[in-house]
Amino acid sequence: MRLEGKTALVTGGGRGIGRAIALALAREGAQIAVGDILKEEAAAVREEIKGLGRKALAYQVDLTQRAQVERMIEFVLAQFGQIDILVNSAGWDRLEPFVESNEETWERILAINFKSVLYTVKAVLPHMISRASGKIVNISSDAGRSGSTWEAVYSGAKGAVIAFSKSLAREVARYKINVNVVCPGLTDTALLQAVRSQSPETEKLIDAIIKATPWRRVAKPEEVAEAVLFLVSPGADFITGQTLSVSGGLTMI
Ligand SMILES: NC(=O)c1ccc[n+]([C@@H]2O[C@H](COP(=O)([O-])OP(=O)(O)OC[C@H]3O[C@@H](n4cnc5c(N)ncnc54)[C@H](O)[C@@H]3O)[C@@H](O)[C@H]2O)c1
Repeated sequence: MRLEGKTALVTGGGRGIGRAIALALAREGAQIAVGDILKEEAAAVREEIKGLGRKALAYQVDLTQRAQVERMIEFVLAQFGQIDILVNSAGWDRLEPFVESNEETWERILAINFKSVLYTVKAVLPHMISRASGKIVNISSDAGRSGSTWEAVYSGAKGAVIAFSKSLAREVARYKINVNVVCPGLTDTALLQAVRSQSPETEKLIDAIIKATPWRRVAKPEEVAEAVLFLVSPGADFITGQTLSVSGGLTMI
C-alpha cells in the first residue's frame, strides 16, 4: 500500500469526486479527514472509510469562512497529529451568460472555488513546512485551462487555482512539498446533474460538451481519484507544479 502511515485531509469529501478521492486514498492505507459543509454526507463517507479498516473523521465546515477552516486544521492535527496530504476538491458552479450574472454569484463562485483553497493551504503549510514534507493537490477544471461557455467566472476561479498552485509549487519546493492540480472534465456527480438540469439550454450545452469530448462520455469520479492518488503517492515525489486533465481528451494543452 502506497499511503500506509499517511494522513490526508480531503475537502468536499462528502460526495462526488471528493468522496471518491477519500476512498481511493484510504484503500491505499491513509487515514482520512473529510471536510464538508454537508454533515450527514461527510459522516457517511467517514463510516465507509472505517469499514475499510482505516481511521477516519468527518468535520462540518463552511470552507468560505477562514476561521472555520483554521479550526478544522487544528482539529485534524489534534486528532491525527499530522497532515501529509491536502486535497482541495470542494467546488460549486452555476451556468449562465456573464452578461446576465450578478456580483453575488461571482463572490460565491470565487469564495468556494478559489479563496477556500487559499484558506486551507495557508492553514496547513506551517505544519507541512515544519516537517519538510507534504503533498497538496487542488482540483481545478478543464474550464480553468481553456475557458468554457457560460462558466466565465468559474473558469476564472479555476484558472486562478492553477496559477496559484504553480507559483506555490516554486515557493515550497525547498521544503519538499509538492503542489499539483487535477482538472476533471465533465464528471458524473450531483454538481453536474445540478448544472445540467438548470434549463433546457444548459442540458443542450452539457450534451454538446460530451459530443466534443473525444471519448464521448463523462468521467466517473473514481477515474479522477486515480490521478490524485498517483500525485500524492511516493512515485510522484519529483512531480510538482503540474496540471493533469482527466477529461477523455476534452482539452489537450
Ligand atoms: N462534476 C464535474 O463535471 C466537474 C468538472 C470539472 C471540475 N469539477 C470540480 O471538481 C470538484 C468536485 O466537484 P463534484 O462534481 O464532486 O461536486 P459535488 O457537488 O458533487 O461535490 C462537491 C462537494 O463540495 C462541498 N462543498 C461545496 N461548497 C462547500 C463549502 N462552502 N464548504 C464546504 N464544503 C463545500 C459540497 O458539499 C460537496 O460535498 C469541484 O472543485 C468542481 O469544481 C467538477
